[in-house]
Amino acid sequence: MAAETLTIIDNRTGKKYEIPVRDGAINASDLRQIRVSEEDFGLMSYDPAFMNTASCQSKISYIDGDRGILRYRGYPIEQLAEKSSYLETAYLILYGELPTKAQLDDWSYNVTHHSILHENIKKFIDGFHHDAHPMGMLVSAVGALSTFYTDAKHIFDAESRKKQTYRLIAKMPTLAGFAYRHSIGMPYSYPDNDLSYTGNFLNMLFKMTEIKYKPNPVIEKAFDVLFILHADHEQNCSTSAMRGVGSSHVDPYCAVAAAAAALYGPLHGGANEAVLRMLMEIGSKSKVPEFIKAVKEGHGKLMGFGHRVYKNYDPRAKIIKQIADSVFEVTGRNPLLDIALELERIALEDDYFIKRKLYPNVDFYSGLIYQSIGLAMDMFPVLFAIPRTSGWVAQWEEMLLDSEQKIARPRQIYKGAAKRDYVPITARK
Ligand code: CMC
Repeated sequence: MAAETLTIIDNRTGKKYEIPVRDGAINASDLRQIRVSEEDFGLMSYDPAFMNTASCQSKISYIDGDRGILRYRGYPIEQLAEKSSYLETAYLILYGELPTKAQLDDWSYNVTHHSILHENIKKFIDGFHHDAHPMGMLVSAVGALSTFYTDAKHIFDAESRKKQTYRLIAKMPTLAGFAYRHSIGMPYSYPDNDLSYTGNFLNMLFKMTEIKYKPNPVIEKAFDVLFILHADHEQNCSTSAMRGVGSSHVDPYCAVAAAAAALYGPLHGGANEAVLRMLMEIGSKSKVPEFIKAVKEGHGKLMGFGHRVYKNYDPRAKIIKQIADSVFEVTGRNPLLDIALELERIALEDDYFIKRKLYPNVDFYSGLIYQSIGLAMDMFPVLFAIPRTSGWVAQWEEMLLDSEQKIARPRQIYKGAAKRDYVPITARK
């Protein structure tokens, strides 16, 4: 059998090195022995944007980007979307196995009974300007929870981590609901423990003067499936932020604030909002070819298309496209759907997109659903952050308990000025 090693010949010195290969990777630190002199720091690998660097070992989610496969803890996303619930999937992601009935009951009870916020958080949200973006409010408010739960600092205490996990999964929808109500000038709607996780979230978004809010079961189910689809996605930008910030051993509220901030950007979880703005800007089906032409000429991107890992149809987008139909039966068809379908049709037949393997991603159709339910566009990234919290927390805990992990601290290749002497201001040109 061939040796599981890599032989490297350094042509600068003629020296030969044998480096172990484990799980299809070499350990970048093994390169450090490759030096041209005693003073040489040793060879590094240069990988901007981590295009080919594994930063951890993980057992949580698995993606085969070429085949369009996503699994959580080994379970195909399609099966979870059809048969599971968000809370059950969150448990699976966090604890590694599907819960028994007793475990699920206990987990649901604890999440349900940690959903109320300290009243001072309400005052904190009150302080935001009337047109504050709900994602900005969410990022700040979840960071502020760190000041309310000082026990969260004990990150190596399993009981403390368990408690913060309940709190984070439970309170993110409440923070999101309050942020939304503030942005539309409506009184806050408090959690209702009789409702499901997504039913309660709808209650906190949409309750008016009725005594008891009754979620529409189709919308409640659609949200639940959308939450399952967004729960984890291996080492994406926000999860890497969660792990990177968490590696300094800060409490999980601060780390989630960092992760949510990373998610906010239009290339990541902000893409669902950007897709809707793009569809509205295109305005009609007949303008699609003109828009595609502009994208190909380098004027902007087709938002909701392309992915660092998927070089095939994003399996989440396939499922979302299906549930959109059930939602539109209740809400009426979103007129922007025709533009989206035409964009997809033309892009999938176009050489530019085919060559670059650009397919619709999770954000392409989700915004159409959110809009037809009656949510403002700036709420869309928030709807990504709520379910992704289970993934962030699971990845954070996995990082903390991994003996190979240390504080995240990449190297750099310095290209700046060589040493030079300070010049007094009067002598500067
Ligand atoms: N529209 C047009 N061209 C694109 C697009 C797009 N959406 N995405 C990538 N390309 C082109 C890109 O210009 C490049 O072309 P060239 O080789 O000629 O320079 C090529 O395809 C490869 O793209 P890249 O930017 O090197 O790929 P990446 O892996 O760095 O970026 C991405 C991945 C998701 C940031 C990018 O595809 C993108 O900006 N998409 C639009 C934003 C979006 O939908 N983001 C949501 C991602 S899925 C959910 C999530 O993770 O949050």
